[in-house]
Amino acid sequence: MNTASGCAVSEPRSHRAFPAAAFLASVALAVATILSGCTSMTNEPLFERLGGESGLEALADAFLIRLAEDEVVVATFDDTDIDQFRGHLIDQLCELSGGPCTYEGRTMAEAHSGLNISPKQFNSLVEDLMQAMADVDIPLGARNELLGMLAPMYHDTIGG
Ligand code: HEM
Repeated sequence: MNTASGCAVSEPRSHRAFPAAAFLASVALAVATILSGCTSMTNEPLFERLGGESGLEALADAFLIRLAEDEVVVATFDDTDIDQFRGHLIDQLCELSGGPCTYEGRTMAEAHSGLNISPKQFNSLVEDLMQAMADVDIPLGARNELLGMLAPMYHDTIGG
């Protein structure tokens, strides 16, 4: 589509079932955008591409539904205040993605200490998050970028 300024912008939700088509469409769009002198498309902050605060709220809810159905991890949350967890998760993702929030929860090492989380559980929870991002139609590039930001937390969450 074209904006009022005449710059092409991406429409990430089309071609969802065809990643290769989406990729080719993105390349064509990027070339057209560069040729027309508009480069802001690639600079949209991750927070915006995640849908802003309402997008992160929807993501957190989809994630909690996936978690509740995940037999590998669900028991880990037996003693957890889920409303507080949800709020802290939204703030953490908001802050990490460049949004206007401040995460005020515990450090990842503190929050996961004593839970003795296994690598299998970590992978399962990441899979839940990936499914949740697909559930709420977050564009593929933004999904990968967010996962890349969470990956370094692996060592602070498992085994403690
Ligand atoms: C990149 C991976 C992870 C991230 C970003 C993450 C994020 C968070 C956040 C933000 C909190 C809230 C901390 C607070 O309220 O102070 C939390 C708590 C918690 N996380 Fe994670 N977490 C990750 C991995 C995991 C895994 C793999 C499990 C278990 C399978 C897990 C289980 C829990 C539980 C049970 C709590 C609540 C602890 C409590 O109630 O005291 N987390 N996590």
